[in-house]
Amino acid sequence: MQKIIILDFGSQTTQLIGRRVRELDTFCEILPYNKYPEDDSDVIGVILSGSPLSVYADDAFHVDLGKIRGRLPILGICYGAQYMSHIYGGKVESAGTREYGRQNLAYVDTTCPLFKGFDAHSQVWMSHGDSITRIPEGAHVVASTETVENAAYYIPGEKPIFGTQFHPEVFHSLQGTLLLKNFVVDVCGSKQEWSADAFVETTVRELREQIGSDRVILGLSGGVDSSVVAVLLNKAIGEQLTCIFVDHGMLRKNEFEDVMRDYECLGLNVIGVDASERFLSDLAGVTEPEKKRKIIGRDFVEVFNDEARKITDAKWLAQGTIYPDRIESLNITGKVIKSHHNVGGLPEEMHLQLCEPLKWLFKDEVRRVGRSMGMPEHLITRHPFPGPGLAVRILGDITREKVRVLQDADDIFIRGLREYKVRLSGEEARAVLAAGVPADMQNGEIEVSLYDQIWQAGAILLSEVRSVGVMGDERTYENPVALRAVTSSDAMTADWAHLPYDFMAKVSNDIINKVKGVNRVCYDISSKPPATIEWE
Ligand code: XMP
Repeated sequence: MQKIIILDFGSQTTQLIGRRVRELDTFCEILPYNKYPEDDSDVIGVILSGSPLSVYADDAFHVDLGKIRGRLPILGICYGAQYMSHIYGGKVESAGTREYGRQNLAYVDTTCPLFKGFDAHSQVWMSHGDSITRIPEGAHVVASTETVENAAYYIPGEKPIFGTQFHPEVFHSLQGTLLLKNFVVDVCGSKQEWSADAFVETTVRELREQIGSDRVILGLSGGVDSSVVAVLLNKAIGEQLTCIFVDHGMLRKNEFEDVMRDYECLGLNVIGVDASERFLSDLAGVTEPEKKRKIIGRDFVEVFNDEARKITDAKWLAQGTIYPDRIESLNITGKVIKSHHNVGGLPEEMHLQLCEPLKWLFKDEVRRVGRSMGMPEHLITRHPFPGPGLAVRILGDITREKVRVLQDADDIFIRGLREYKVRLSGEEARAVLAAGVPADMQNGEIEVSLYDQIWQAGAILLSEVRSVGVMGDERTYENPVALRAVTSSDAMTADWAHLPYDFMAKVSNDIINKVKGVNRVCYDISSKPPATIEWE
C-alpha cells in the first residue's frame, strides 16, 4: 500500500502530521529520524518533522537524505526545512526571539505546487527560535510573512523538495490541510485509498490468511480498542475466536451485565468471568495504592490465564494495541529512543503468537473502523477506563459497600454528562469532530453531549475523609466525592474540563440526595502534569 514516511525529530506535533495525512485517506508511518526503512518500495513521499533542537547545535539530529533526495518528494516542516537549508547550502541562525503564534502570509507563490489554491494572506502558525537566513541552493522563496522572509522554499524537480518554516499540521494554519493535500495527493500522487471501509476489508482478508483455522483468545475490557478487535476478528474467523471478559468487582455500575449484553448482540463468543469475590477478598484492608494495583494485576493475569488455559488448542493472543502505543517517541532530554509497547499476557509456555490488527491506527481511526462495522455508538465513544477500575478511585481500603457508593455517584455523573447537550463552533467543534464524534455541522455549529466533548470523567470516593453536613434535621458525618473530568488528546497531558455551573450544581445535588454515604461533592481542578488523571 502507498505510504508517506514521517521522520520524527522530536516535535510535539509529529503525531498531528500523521493524523492529518491519514485524514487525507493516505497511509503513513511515523519513524524516528534515523530509522528510514531499508525497503521503501511503497513509499511515495517523505515529511521531516519539527524539533525542539537547533540544526547547528552539537547534539542536533542528523539524517542522511542521500537515499531519498531525487527519488521521492520531500517536505520539511520547521526543523525539517531548516535542516535541509543547513545541509544543502543555505544558512540557519538564531532568530534572537522565539517567533510563536499566528501570522499572515505577506507573499505566496500560488504557482508553486505546494501553495496551489492558497489565499493571498493565509494565516499560518509559527513556532521557532531559529530562522532560515539563506535558503538552499537551487531553491526559490515561495512564501513570506512580514517578519519571516523565508517562510517557505521550493526546489523544483521531478521529485521536488519543499520547506515550510510554519506548521501546516496545526489547526491555526488555516490552509494547512490544503498544503498537506497539495503535497500528499498532487505532488506524491496518493490515490487516497486508506479508509475505514478499506481497512476493514483488507484486514479481515489478512486475518483470515494469517490465522487460517487456528483458535484465537482475546481479553475484552469493555473499552473501544479491544471491542473493535473482537468485532474484526469475529468477521474474519467467527467461532474460532474466544473472548474473555473478567469482572474484578470494580467496574462501573451494571457495566459487566451491560457490556456482556452488547457483546452478545454483536454475536461475539464471550466467556464472562465473575471473579469479584477473589479480587475483593485479596484487597481487603489494603490501603497503599501501588500494593492495590499489584494485587489486581496479579489476580487479573491468574484469572485470565486460568480461563485461557481451558482453550487448549489456542495459537494466538489478540490485543487491542493501537499506533500511539507503539510509536517510538524521541526523548529529547535524554536523547534516548523509547518504545512504548503494550504487550503483556500469557505465560510463554502457551507459545501464543500475538495478533494486533489495530496496531497502525490512531484512536479516532479505531472509532471510524468500529462505526464502519456497525458497532453501537455508545461502545465506540466510551471514555477510557483504567484496568484496575474503581480501585484507583477509592482512596483507602476497598469494600463492596464503598464500591457500591462510588458506582452510584459515578453513574449519576456519567449519565448527566451524556444527557447535557452543548453547542460548539470554531476550534472546539473541530477538535470534537477530529476525535471522530459524529455530529452534523449546521450554521457553523455542532451539538454534542458534554460526555463527547471530554476525554474522560469519573468520580473518586475520598473514603478516608469525613465531614459534617446536615440533611433535613439530621447531622451527617460522611464521605466526600470528588468529580474529575478532563480534556486531552492522548492522556499524556490533560486539562480539567470547564463544565457548566448549572450542570455541576445539578450533579452535586443529585449525588448528595441520592447516594447514601456521601454528603459533599468537590470538583478536581488540577491539570496533568503536575497531577495525574487518576487519583491513585
Ligand atoms: P494517569 O492517571 O496516569 O492516567 O494520568 C492516564 C490514562 O491511563 C489510564 N490508566 C490506566 N489504564 N491500567 C489501565 O489500563 C492502569 O493501571 C491505568 N492507570 C491509569 C487513565 O484512566 C488515563 O486514561
